[in-house]
Order: sequence, then structure tokens, then C-alpha cells
Amino acid sequence: MKKGFVLLIFIVILLVLSMIGFYGYRFQTQSLFYSLFPILSWVSADQPILFNHILHQEAVKLNCSFCHRYVERYRSAGIPSIEICRACHSTNAMSKRPEALKVFEYVKANREIPWNRMYELPNYVVFPHWIHIQKKMDCSVCHGMTGVKERPIKMVDRNYMDWCMHCHKKRVASNDCYTCHSS
Ligand code: HEC
Ligand code: HEC
Ligand code: HEC
Ligand code: HEC
Ligand code: HEC
Repeated sequence: MKKGFVLLIFIVILLVLSMIGFYGYRFQTQSLFYSLFPILSWVSADQPILFNHILHQEAVKLNCSFCHRYVERYRSAGIPSIEICRACHSTNAMSKRPEALKVFEYVKANREIPWNRMYELPNYVVFPHWIHIQKKMDCSVCHGMTGVKERPIKMVDRNYMDWCMHCHKKRVASNDCYTCHSS
């Protein structure tokens, strides 16, 4: 009886602490969670074609901004249009791999590939890439292994409000609500 009561109190305290932890220190709780279970920090994404980032970086030495061409100067980074693929995949001479042949089909038909977006903040958030790139931040800070892994993956352990604000505080950038929620 007495033991059960102590156990109950212990559980209640644990619950209260984890609630405070979650609401008061969301960034710290989440990063602790993901450092304990790193495998949960990313998910593989479905795409019409399994675009291979590593291959394009290693085989043809393309910079990220060759395809994501707005990233250094504008708000958005941009997903490449079929015209960029056409430069190399206008015939099957460049690659005869099955996934590459699918690209060739799209190029031939002059159709855009219907990529699924992996990173998309709600409309009420403003995120300017260029400011962050100008501050010499590497893509991997926010995109982790996306862009440097063979298959499309999405990092789920970042790009939420407390995470943005944590770095802004550390780097003395503005944390005014209107900084990120102005339009
Ligand atoms: C040859 C063109 C090309 C190059 C070079 C390239 N990418 Fe991509 N990237 C794509 C395509 C096509 C997609 C959409 C398909 C996908 O998500 O797998 C994409 C998707 C992404 C996404 C996810 C976007 C979203 O919201 O869906 C990120 C992040 C990304 N790339 C980062 C990078 C980084 C970082 C580099 C440099 C290391 C890079 N990319 C180099 C073509 C390229
Ligand atoms: C500068 C040239 C170049 C450009 C631009 C380019 N690719 Fe490629 N792509 C290659 C090369 C080289 C290979 C690999 C050839 C091989 O080893 O078979 C390749 C292979 C591929 C493959 C097969 C990969 C696999 O593992 O199965 C896909 C899919 C692909 N490219 C998609 C795209 C898409 C989509 C675009 C446009 C956003 C694009 N590529 C733009 C050069 C390019
Ligand atoms: C400070 C964090 C951060 C950095 C650094 C960063 N990104 Fe992003 N990226 C984001 C966020 C957040 C989104 C979602 C933006 C949105 O929906 O408005 C995004 C979206 C994207 C997309 C999807 C298409 C688009 O235009 O929204 C691509 C592609 C991309 N980033 C590529 C890159 C590349 C390449 C680099 C490095 C040169 C880079 N990012 C650096 C945070 C970052
Ligand atoms: C790794 C650190 C880091 C991360 C993560 C980060 N930022 Fe930033 N952010 C900065 C820095 C540094 C500046 C530049 C501040 C300056 O120039 O005064 C900046 C500037 C900005 C600005 C422009 C501020 C102004 O004064 O005009 C906006 C908007 C912004 N960030 C939104 C975001 C959002 C939204 C996210 C999350 C998706 C995010 N940032 C994630 C470091 C970061
Ligand atoms: C550094 C950028 C940044 C700043 C500063 C910021 N926010 Fe956010 N906010 C975000 C992002 C990014 C999201 C989207 C989160 C998501 O979709 O996971 C968001 C989402 C929200 C939401 C939607 C609900 C939620 O919690 O996801 C509310 C409400 C909100 N912010 C209010 C505020 C208020 C109030 C302030 C000022 C104290 C503020 N924000 C300051 C980046 C910021």
C-alpha cells in the first residue's frame, strides 16, 4: 500500500517534470530525444523519381546552387525545372540507369517532374535563405543529410519554431515575432 503510494507520487512528479520540460524547454528536450535516438531524426520521402544527390555531386561535381539556383540571393532555394535536367539527360547517353531513363521520358515529353516538397513551412512563416547563406551557414545545418545522401530523405528533428529561435538567440539575430511572421 505504502510502496504503491510512493510509486504513484514518483510517476506524477515524472509526468509533471516532462510536461515542464516539453513546454518550457522544447528545443532542449527535442535535441536530447534525437541525440538518444538519431535514427528517428530523419525519414525517407516518396518521390516520383529517386533523385540521387550523391551521384550528381561526385560524378559531375555540381554545386548545390547549380540546381537550387536562388538559394544565395533570394528567399527560396528553388527546385530545379526539367530544363536543368535536359542539359545532361536529353538522351540516354549520360546514364542508362532505370531512374535516369524515367528522367529522359519527362525531358522528351517536356513535362515537369511532380516532386513532393519535403521542406515547407506554413505560409505564415518567412524564411529567407540568402541571409543565412550570407552568414556562411552550411546547408547541412538545416538540411542535415538531405542533399548528401543517395535517396530523398527529410530531417524531422529541425526547422521548427523553437529550433530557429534557439540559434537566433545564440547568434544574436532578432527573435521578434514579426521577424519570422511578418506577412
Ligand atoms: C543536379 C541537380 C541538383 C543538385 C546539384 C542538388 N540538388 Fe538538391 N534537389 C534536386 C532535386 C531534383 C530535388 C527534388 C527531388 C528530391 O527531393 O529528391 C532536390 C531536393 C533537395 C532538397 C529538398 C527540397 C524539398 O523541400 O523537397 C534539399 C534540402 C536539397 N535538395 C538540398 C541540396 C543540397 C544541400 C545540395 C548540395 C550538396 C543539392 N541539393 C544539390 C536537385 C539537385
Ligand atoms: C551536369 C550533368 C547532369 C545534370 C544537369 C543532371 N544529371 Fe542526372 N545524372 C548525371 C550523371 C553523370 C549520372 C550518372 C551516370 C551513371 O553513372 O550512370 C546521372 C544519373 C541520374 C539518375 C540515376 C541515378 C540512380 O542512382 O539511379 C537520375 C534519377 C538523375 N540523374 C536525375 C536527374 C534530374 C532529375 C536532373 C535535373 C534536376 C538531373 N539528373 C540533372 C548527370 C547530370
Ligand atoms: C537556416 C536554415 C537553412 C539553411 C542554412 C538552408 N536551408 Fe534550405 N530550407 C530551410 C527551410 C526552413 C526551408 C523551408 C522554406 C519554406 O517553406 O519557406 C528550406 C527549403 C529548401 C528547399 C526547398 C525549396 C524551397 O525553395 O523552399 C531547398 C531545395 C533548399 N532549402 C536547399 C538549400 C540549400 C541548397 C542550402 C545551402 C546552400 C540550404 N537550403 C540552406 C532552411 C535552411
Ligand atoms: C544556425 C543558426 C540559425 C538558424 C537555425 C536559423 N537562423 Fe534565421 N538567422 C540567423 C542569422 C545569423 C541571421 C542574420 C541576422 C542579422 O543579419 O542580423 C538570421 C536572420 C533571419 C531572418 C531575417 C532577420 C532580419 O533581421 O531581417 C529571418 C526572417 C530568419 N532568420 C528566419 C529564420 C527561420 C524561420 C528559421 C527556422 C526555420 C531560422 N531563421 C533558422 C541564424 C539562424
Ligand atoms: C526565428 C523565427 C521565428 C520567430 C522569431 C517566431 N516564430 Fe513563430 N513560428 C516559426 C516557425 C518556423 C513556425 C512553424 C512551426 C512548424 O510548422 O513546425 C512558427 C509557428 C508559430 C505558431 C503556430 C503554432 C505553433 O506553435 O506551431 C504560432 C502561434 C507562432 N509561431 C507564434 C509566434 C510568436 C507569438 C512569436 C514571438 C514571441 C514567434 N512566433 C516568433 C518561427 C518563428
